Amino acid sequence: MQALKRRVKHMLSKAVEPQMVELKTKLESQTSELAAKLDHIERIVSTPLQAAHHSSVGAIWRGGVGGKAVDAAGNESPAMTVKYRDELAFWHHSIKHDPISAFHGPYEDIYGGWQRGRLEELREFLGLATWADLEVWAASRSAIEIGPGPYPSISLLQWRRGIAVDPLVDAYVAEDLLPKRGHCDKLVLLASAAERIPLPGNSFDIMVAENCLDHVDDPGAVVAEVKRVLAPGGLFWLLVDLMEYRDHMHPNPFSEQSLTALLKQHGFEIVRHRVNDHKSHPNAYGEFRGLLRKP
Ligand SMILES: C[S@@+](CC[C@H](N)C(=O)[O-])C[C@H]1O[C@@H](n2cnc3c(N)ncnc32)[C@H](O)[C@@H]1O
Repeated sequence: MQALKRRVKHMLSKAVEPQMVELKTKLESQTSELAAKLDHIERIVSTPLQAAHHSSVGAIWRGGVGGKAVDAAGNESPAMTVKYRDELAFWHHSIKHDPISAFHGPYEDIYGGWQRGRLEELREFLGLATWADLEVWAASRSAIEIGPGPYPSISLLQWRRGIAVDPLVDAYVAEDLLPKRGHCDKLVLLASAAERIPLPGNSFDIMVAENCLDHVDDPGAVVAEVKRVLAPGGLFWLLVDLMEYRDHMHPNPFSEQSLTALLKQHGFEIVRHRVNDHKSHPNAYGEFRGLLRKP
């Protein structure tokens, strides 16, 4: 009897074995499909959060004062729309509506005079005697300016090649904020954040950045880009307000120490610099002006 039972059990298990194997394989494949789906869902859930963070750095403005900031994929970046709208509102109001209280005189005369004064200081730092010498110096060199606002400093000279990089250039053109005098019409205007400059490396003799570094979202990335696009021996003409105050338009305030540490970290040599109590922002306590060199 026992032997018969064992034989029947064996025959039954032999009969269902193929189905059991098939069922086991099916279960294993469904388990791995489920794991892949869970992984995919997890990635979908976490991506918008990461993307929202990464895409905001590098956003540019599209349109005039009623425009918006868009990321590299063309999607609106709401936080950057607020930041850039406020930057733009300052220029638009000051230039178009109230130049007298903003500049205490006609915009192009006053702002152009400030920019000329800054270039006179560059001439002095370079050891050139006259403005005419600076014009000759510039004519054989390529220049790039980041965060120029609507009145690029480099527009007062004729360069071999001149490029102004600002996330808001679309609006400067749309709202007719660019100066009519100087060489602004010869500059290439590039709508880009300075954290990722879409230009080849080792291609410029001088980089100008005035009151820009404390406005950007990632100053370390910007200084790395400055170094990348400058040719070996290229110059970095830098102006930075020194302050502790921060807001959404000035997310990265600098002290002289933190600024020089950042520049040295990226290998820049300080050719000459000064710090004084002049300030562009009312909450600043001074300003750093430096002529630096990429080794
Ligand atoms: C205070 S304005 C400086 C304008 C001019 N250079 C001057 O010194 O008067 C700051 C400029 O930085 C620009 N800016 C803000 N974020 C930037 C970024 N990530 N990359 C490049 N420029 C940026 C703004 O659009 C604005 O033109």
